[in-house]
Amino acid sequence: MSADLSPGDATRCARAAAPVASVSRPLVPSLDLSVVYEIAGLDQIDGLNTGRLSGFSYARDGHPNAVQLAAKMCAIERAEAGLVCASGMAAIASTLLTLVSQGAHVIISEGLYGKSTTLVSRELIRFGVTHDSFDPARPETLEKLITSRTRLVLVETISNPLLRVSDLEAIARVTRGAGVPLMVDHTFAPLLCRPIELGATFVMHSVTKLIGGHSDLTLGVVVGPREAIERIRSVASTFGQTGNPFESWLALRGLATLSLRSDRASATALDLAARLEAHAQVTRVVYPGLPSHPDHNLARRLLTNGFGAMVSFDVGGREQADHLIRSLRHIPFASSLGDVQTTLSHPCSTSHRGQDPEMLQRLGITPGLIRLSVGLEDPEDLWSDLRLALEAR
Ligand SMILES: Cc1ncc(COP(=O)(O)O)c(C=O)c1O
Repeated sequence: MSADLSPGDATRCARAAAPVASVSRPLVPSLDLSVVYEIAGLDQIDGLNTGRLSGFSYARDGHPNAVQLAAKMCAIERAEAGLVCASGMAAIASTLLTLVSQGAHVIISEGLYGKSTTLVSRELIRFGVTHDSFDPARPETLEKLITSRTRLVLVETISNPLLRVSDLEAIARVTRGAGVPLMVDHTFAPLLCRPIELGATFVMHSVTKLIGGHSDLTLGVVVGPREAIERIRSVASTFGQTGNPFESWLALRGLATLSLRSDRASATALDLAARLEAHAQVTRVVYPGLPSHPDHNLARRLLTNGFGAMVSFDVGGREQADHLIRSLRHIPFASSLGDVQTTLSHPCSTSHRGQDPEMLQRLGITPGLIRLSVGLEDPEDLWSDLRLALEAR
């Protein structure tokens, strides 16, 4: 008998299982883990590489779960095209690596996520890329920083941890007038507003946070104009910064409940912020939904779907912050955000560790500052944990 009719056991084991025919389609996305695709011939590989044919050949360049996630994010952000990256930092890095070359200039807003600042101020500088910073609450200060070498302005909708709200419309008016792309890091504000409709060129998210929502995946996404995203896709693949199928698939699950989670977290965050503000052990509360927040009026105009899940508050100093962290019974100190359970972070020791102490002090990122990422628990249980810890001797 020929080997083909009766293959050996090693062959039976090694051959891939045949695709299963079905006239019906799965209701939810299938997980497509294949790294590589079988190509029918040279005309097909040429067609795939030139874009004449649609399909996949190698997962680092693209795979169905990333395409599904990117399409959903484009629908949410009203963007033409999107790319899933290995992390939020990979989304920022691949966009920057695409837009800048030696001698270029980048403008960032003050108080960005620490690693974003580090990427621009300590890493890109090694490749001859310079930068300037501006106060996003004062868009008029941006215009004079833009030069003929400026290739990108990067801001966050809601900054970390001081929750300053960027006047995206005013910033976009300046960048559009100067013909410079504006990228908005929308990690703290998915669904709260749509930066592209306000004039941004690119929107990026750390999908790791609120979009994934369960602290079980690390991914990023950047969306924007099709032509620019295709260039970023090619750079991201070359630098190995694209996202993988399993985490894209998990993120699709998380995204399904994002709207509900976001509404609930915003409502609880507002409630806790008001109670913290009235507590004697708390010296300062930072929440855009409170009238005491410096950007409250702007937040009311810009954030049409709630003020977000993040609340920061100061307990006076590093010692008090440590005491609070050790006294809490249920809210864990975990240096991320956006989970279904409430977590807290100490920005000076985590996200902003190693940043210029003078800059941190000037911005108000003080040693007593705690940042709460509000989850889905019963608000009374969260308040009881916080109150007892604040009052613990
Ligand atoms: C505002 C913001 N942008 C970007 C990032 C980077 O995201 P990732 O950890 O997925 O690389 C973070 C991470 O905390 C963040 O808070």
